[in-house]
Amino acid sequence: MSEALRVGVAGLGTVGSSVVRILAAKSDELTRQCGRPIVVTAVSARDRSRDRGIDLSGIEWYDDAAEMAEKAGIDVLVELIGGDNGPAMACVKAALKAGRHVVTANKALLASQGLALAEIAEKKGVLLNYEAAVAGGIPIIKTMREAMAANTISRVYGILNGTCNYILTRMEAEKMDFAECLADAQRLGYAEADPTFDIEGQDTAHKLAILTSLAFGTKISPDDIYLEGISNITQADIKAAGELGYRIKLLGVALRTETGIEQRVHPTMVPMSSVIAQVHGVTNAVAIETDTLGELLLSGPGAGGDATASSVIGDLADIAKSRPGFQHGPVFGRPVRELAPYKRARMRSHEGGYFIRLSVRDRAGVFAAVAKRMAENNISLESIVQHANGQNTPDVKTVILVTHETMEASVRKAVEKITGDGHLIDKPQVIRIERAA
Ligand code: HSE
Repeated sequence: MSEALRVGVAGLGTVGSSVVRILAAKSDELTRQCGRPIVVTAVSARDRSRDRGIDLSGIEWYDDAAEMAEKAGIDVLVELIGGDNGPAMACVKAALKAGRHVVTANKALLASQGLALAEIAEKKGVLLNYEAAVAGGIPIIKTMREAMAANTISRVYGILNGTCNYILTRMEAEKMDFAECLADAQRLGYAEADPTFDIEGQDTAHKLAILTSLAFGTKISPDDIYLEGISNITQADIKAAGELGYRIKLLGVALRTETGIEQRVHPTMVPMSSVIAQVHGVTNAVAIETDTLGELLLSGPGAGGDATASSVIGDLADIAKSRPGFQHGPVFGRPVRELAPYKRARMRSHEGGYFIRLSVRDRAGVFAAVAKRMAENNISLESIVQHANGQNTPDVKTVILVTHETMEASVRKAVEKITGDGHLIDKPQVIRIERAA
């Protein structure tokens, strides 16, 4: 039997503890699969005394993850600390420079520093694997890096944040409060250390930036992503969406347009009949549209300790099976020098359908004034309805408009004009509609 693959785990939170536990529990089976054992020989975390329900006896402890990456007798560093700088960056860099493979679940780090890290990995001839960084347990990186060579991708989109999908699902199904749903997601170990990263869309954006690079062969460009989170989605939006035959999901979308690549993260109305509308709770889904394959949709657990550990351990098994000269391909699907510069399509040029919800004063001419602003901006309406706003506010009405395909710039201008007309009693709500599988 070949020598064991020696692993150092940096970060023993929900995911790190699952990795250590599953590696021990499945040790015999993994050894049979890989032809050699995978053994955790070193760990690093903040608090040594905390009971994590895992056996750490015989495992070397390091207070400093970078020191472990450099000095411990390990073949692979598993980085599960998180964050786009600080100790995560320090230990990953140290490991790669020392010629050790790295497995990471850190999407923030890859989105901001992925290219620089990939260059070091290439130079050192080691692997930088990150299946767990995007969509938790779904093998989307493997699919995009290894199985799509015959395909030109036109659009990649999906539900990439378990916390947001969990919140939106429960808000709809149980008419629950946003804050209560978020607290449950945190308790279940889905949310980031700072949950604003989840609900304001940054976590989805980090994951989308990685998928965009893999899909279009471009340099990673997280700062070019249009970003809106779910914190202003209300029960009124969820209810209106349902009545119109839509469901609201936080989507990350990247597509090739005539002027460049559009990357956006925002709450989105998807047709109730689409498969992606049936993706509930912490489940994620990623759809890829290509010329050769048509449409591919992968769906599965997107967050949580064991789901994420499944991807980490899959990456470790790939390393254990690899032999010098027979390693897997480049970090972002092609060598760094082959990645094209990213060319951004402007969000104002985005074309699609729009849902617009307005709270207006109930007086003569308001409905007509709203319709006039739409016509002035060449926006063709699919529907326009007016509802009473409830007994407590008899002088307020809700107007809901659904547009045909139109340009973002026109919608922004029309909504600005309507706001300026002085008929609104609240901020207008605009939600994009997306064609979906
Ligand atoms: N906070 C993330 C989520 C964890 O909710 O999807 C997985 O990246």
